[in-house]
Amino acid sequence: MTSFSDNMLEWYDRNRRDLPWRAAPGITPTPYHVWMSEIMLQQTTVATVKAYFEKFLDRWPTVQDMAAAPQEEILKEWAGLGYYARARNLHKCATVVTKEFGGIFPKTEAALRALPGVGDYTAAAVASIAFGEPAAVVDGNIERIITRVFRIQGQIPKARKIIKEHVAEVTPAKRPGDFAQAMMDLGASHCSPKKPSCLLCPISSLCAAQKHGDMETYPRKAPKKVKPTRRAYSFWLEHDGHVLLQRRPDSGLLGGMPGFYSTTWEERSDFPRKEEWLQHRPSEDYWKPFEEIAKHTFTHFHLETKLLKAKAHEKYNMEDGFWHPIDQLADIGLPTVFKKIADLAAT
Ligand code: ADE
Repeated sequence: MTSFSDNMLEWYDRNRRDLPWRAAPGITPTPYHVWMSEIMLQQTTVATVKAYFEKFLDRWPTVQDMAAAPQEEILKEWAGLGYYARARNLHKCATVVTKEFGGIFPKTEAALRALPGVGDYTAAAVASIAFGEPAAVVDGNIERIITRVFRIQGQIPKARKIIKEHVAEVTPAKRPGDFAQAMMDLGASHCSPKKPSCLLCPISSLCAAQKHGDMETYPRKAPKKVKPTRRAYSFWLEHDGHVLLQRRPDSGLLGGMPGFYSTTWEERSDFPRKEEWLQHRPSEDYWKPFEEIAKHTFTHFHLETKLLKAKAHEKYNMEDGFWHPIDQLADIGLPTVFKKIADLAAT
């Protein structure tokens, strides 16, 4: 299907988005930029990533600079982007590329796939965009385009294998990276989930769903599981303009990030009662409960938390805790969920 890729590339040459990690037409892309942007763009929108990408590049212009930074600094700059395992792996990967590959990213999809934090999608995206390998790049936007063009009836996630085969078929040997990015741009513009602008689409004449008029029904998806709600109390302990924070364990949800002490985040219909939250309090001061709720949604659950506040007699020494000036909470890189809890405490 040459006309597929030809039409896409022609369209891209006239309509490509100018994005900070993209090399200008005809210029060889910088693998470090491509890799970093692709890690950031997993689960996060282009609009959000732009500012983070520029901040990171400013601070760590090369992969060696990033490898030399403490992980804590990377996590701090990452705060707000979510999915913090990505940030820990970003740093690990920079270290591996620097120490084991002399600062040069490997060029093949298979070699990239072996790097920390580089999954199937990222390996294919970096291989094709940075190194011109004709890898089959499939993200959510591309899934939508392909399932429409070929009217694929199978449901996501099962249909992913066949979708990838179709992508491999239409990916050209020449300019595969531009082709992948053309697909991303088309998915982000005309081939939208609702009311696609087929009149403006460069491949509408090749699109089976467009012919049938059932574009909006693709991709077919397995019914979503409902997310359970976990409920907890968070502890706000103050002393002399400082608040007690906890560094979370390195692995697991929000690993390595600062946050507030709390009761365990458990799926339950009610908030913990006093007998229960007493067991989790970080100090034996007088704790006052509040009724307002901070809500945050993670990949697999909703979290609702209420607040308990206390004034500490002194700045206790805590094993995994540390005191931070309240007027500098914005500078420490709190994950969004804890920012919401801090906002509760301020009202
Ligand atoms: N989403 C993920 N990677 C992208 C890229 N290189 N360009 C535009 N959107 C993207």
